[in-house]
Parts: sequence; structure tokens; C-alpha cells
Amino acid sequence: MPSTPRLLAASAVLIAGCPSAEPEATVFWTDVAPLIETHCVECHQDGGVAPFRLDTYEAAAQWAGPSAQAVAARSMPPFLVKDDGSCGEFEDGNWLSEAAIQTFATWAAEGAQEGAGATVALTEPRVLTGDITDTQTPNFVPEIVGGDYAEFDEYRCFMVDIPTQGSTPYLTGYEVLPGNPAIVHHVIGYPVVLDDPSDAFGKTNREVINEMQADEPGRDGWPCFNAAGPNVSTDFEVVAWAPGQGPVEYPQGVGLALPENSVMVYQVHYNLVDPATLGQPDQTTVRLRIEDSVEREAYMSLPDGFLGGFSDPSEIPPGESETSVNFELPLSWLLGNVPLDFEILAVLPHMHARGRQMYVSLAHEDGGNTCVAEVQAWDYNWQRLYMYETPLAFGANDTLMVECVYDTSGDDEPIEPGWGTQNEMCLPGVLVAVKQ
Ligand code: HEC
Repeated sequence: MPSTPRLLAASAVLIAGCPSAEPEATVFWTDVAPLIETHCVECHQDGGVAPFRLDTYEAAAQWAGPSAQAVAARSMPPFLVKDDGSCGEFEDGNWLSEAAIQTFATWAAEGAQEGAGATVALTEPRVLTGDITDTQTPNFVPEIVGGDYAEFDEYRCFMVDIPTQGSTPYLTGYEVLPGNPAIVHHVIGYPVVLDDPSDAFGKTNREVINEMQADEPGRDGWPCFNAAGPNVSTDFEVVAWAPGQGPVEYPQGVGLALPENSVMVYQVHYNLVDPATLGQPDQTTVRLRIEDSVEREAYMSLPDGFLGGFSDPSEIPPGESETSVNFELPLSWLLGNVPLDFEILAVLPHMHARGRQMYVSLAHEDGGNTCVAEVQAWDYNWQRLYMYETPLAFGANDTLMVECVYDTSGDDEPIEPGWGTQNEMCLPGVLVAVKQ
């Protein structure tokens, strides 16, 4: 067969005025493998969280077209906050440069050629050091729950003991080791005081949890799409992990207080889209670094003006492919007018399934502005905490400015704020501490 595209390509080179030097082809081993090593193989390898591997030439070539598309759309690698230096600088950033995106595109367009080389290097994972408390979820076989938001998924909560009896220790770091990386899509940990009142009238958290567990005899845990489960009262999350995150360490001397007599509830999101994973068990380990005292206490602040009833609008109109909710939050509300300077150590964007974009910034008293985080392609499946390389400074008189954008084209009723599956949130969680 005559190769028309090749001829066209050749004449394009002539027109560009470069007839003599054939541009060198983009090939796997020289151009693409180094990118795959740095940005993809931690998930796309045998036994990794991704459903296929990219660590051989044959596999990567087979996925060349979809990979070029996924990186161009920035859906892969899954690092949701913009990380090109224009809005914060993040630790362990996994954001491709424009040149790298172009390399994937050119390689696919030129027919995914191999070039010379042999192996893709797999990186050694980092580990959390210090005095560690290992906690574990039960050995559990998830099942597809079905429905709009769990088409191939199950969200399950499990309770584990942590050493908080009679004391208020601090969490200074954590690491999640999924037992079955192919199905564990995220893990979120909430401290829960079992004897505290729940959100169900007249019942404690313990009673609410016991009832949910009794509903499904023979299966560990209880269903929970959001937070620690329906009606379980908890203030904040202290563990937020998605694949690719590695160990999380708060800056030196900083920790989050764990309430006295709390247990930890882990929400595990199991994804069973790959039929081969059906019936497989998982037992996930969460390693917690808990210390008796810290120099600075950090606070997870979860400002959601939509949930709080002071956003514009107060409910999201249905039938719109792009519709926003905005709110402004004077930080003195959150911090109680303390005349101190604070810093933001990390950000945790959170919306539900209709979320598309989130824009968060700080308006300073003097008229200046700091970009906190921008999410351009929200994906509910990739919940995680993004730690700043250098914390963002702010004063108690600054204002947090937030915009969340949703796609409600599949809805015919207005969407109310709430923790449930059918509701939405607009939550730029921030981990803050008093500046040193
Ligand atoms: C943090 C883990 C992780 C990293 C890093 C990662 N992937 Fe993925 N990738 C996944 C998972 C999991 C899926 C399955 C779909 C999903 O759950 O989003 C996937 C799916 C894909 C798909 C299928 C189509 C799609 O968009 O869902 C392509 C193509 C892909 N990845 C390419 C890449 C390339 C190329 C890189 C590196 C530049 C990369 N991925 C980095 C985890 C990862």
C-alpha cells in the first residue's frame, strides 16, 4: 500500500523550509521511556493500581494513542491540582510539561516506534520512618454496589483502634499500603469518638455504627460514600490517600491532634472495573506516625460555603453543562480573630461526582492575591492531600475566594448541598498552622 500520510509529512517538511535534515523520529527508548519511568510506572506496572502496564515497549506501544490523549487532557497522570508553578508548588508534583505532552503525541502520530533500548526502570518506593503504629482494615472482599456513583465500585468504612485512650496525641505522618493495589482507589481516615452524639437524634456514634454493621451480617464494615458514613459525626479527616501519593509527612515539628478516646474510621474506595479483580480480597495497612507532643499544632479546616449556606447560588441549577457556585470566606470567621499570621501547609480539594473545576485563592488585606489551588479536571476517584513545597502565608484579615464548577446536565432537580451521594459539596480543605 502506498503510504499517503508519509508523503504528506515529507512535503510539509519541505514547505517548512528544512529539506535536507530529516527530523529525528521520536522513539520509545530515547524519548518516551524516561517519561513513563518518572510519571507512569508507579501505577502502570504488574500488580499496580492501573488496569494495564506501560513498563514494556509492547504494552506502551499498544496504548500510545490513548496515552497521548490522556496526557493531553491531563487526566493522566492523576495529579488534580495545577502544578506548572503558576498556582502553588507541590511536593511530589506529577505534572507533565507541555514538551512531554507533545512527545507522547508525536510518538503516537509517528507510529509508536521502538528505537534501541531494553528496560524501563522501576522506582523504589519511599517509606515512612519514625515510631509507627500499623493499623489494618479487615480482610475484605468488596462487591460492586452499582448505581450512578458506584457503577463498578464499593465505598466501605472500617473502624480500627489507635492509641488515644486518655490522651490527645498528634499525627505527624502516614502512609497507606494497599493490600491489593489493583482495587484500592482511595483511603480516607477520620477520627471518631464513639461515645459522642451522632448526627442521628438521640444516638451515639457507636450505636449508629453498630446498627449499620448489623444490617449486613457476615460482611465487615459499613457502607459510606461520604465521610465516615451516614450520621456518623466526625469533624475532619486526617488521612487522605490516593495511589501515587507515597508517604505523607507534615513539616518538621507539625502535627494534627487526634481527639482523646477516638478510634480511626477508614473509608476505602474499592474499584472493580477490571473483571479479573472480582472476588479478590484486600487487606490494607495504614501506617500512622503518632507522637505525644509537637512544636506546632496543625488544623484541618474544611470551609464549605455551599454546605454552610452562604454561597451564591445556594443550590445548583439542574440541566447545565457548566454552572458555578461561589463563596468568599473572611478567614477571621475560621480563626476567631486571632491576630496571628498563619500558613497553609496543604490543600485537599473535595467535590462529589458532578464537580468539574475548582478555583481557590486568598485575597489579602493590602489588595494582593495568592493562588491557592486550581483544579481543571476534577475526578472524584482521586482524593488526596496536596502538600506545598513552601507553605502559603496568610493573615487573619485575608479572605478565601472559592469557585466550584459543576456539570448538572444529567439532573432535572436542583442539587442541594450535603454529604450524600445525590448532593454536592464545594470544599477546599486546607491544613493550616500558626506561622513560626
Ligand atoms: C497514580 C497512579 C497512576 C499514574 C501515575 C498514571 N496512571 Fe494511568 N491510570 C491509572 C488508573 C488507576 C487508571 C484506570 C482508570 C482510572 O481509574 O482513572 C489509568 C488509566 C490510564 C489510561 C486509560 C484511559 C484513561 O484515561 O483512563 C491511560 C491511557 C493511562 N492511564 C496512561 C497513563 C500515562 C501515559 C501515565 C504517565 C504519563 C499514567 N497513566 C500515569 C493510574 C495511574
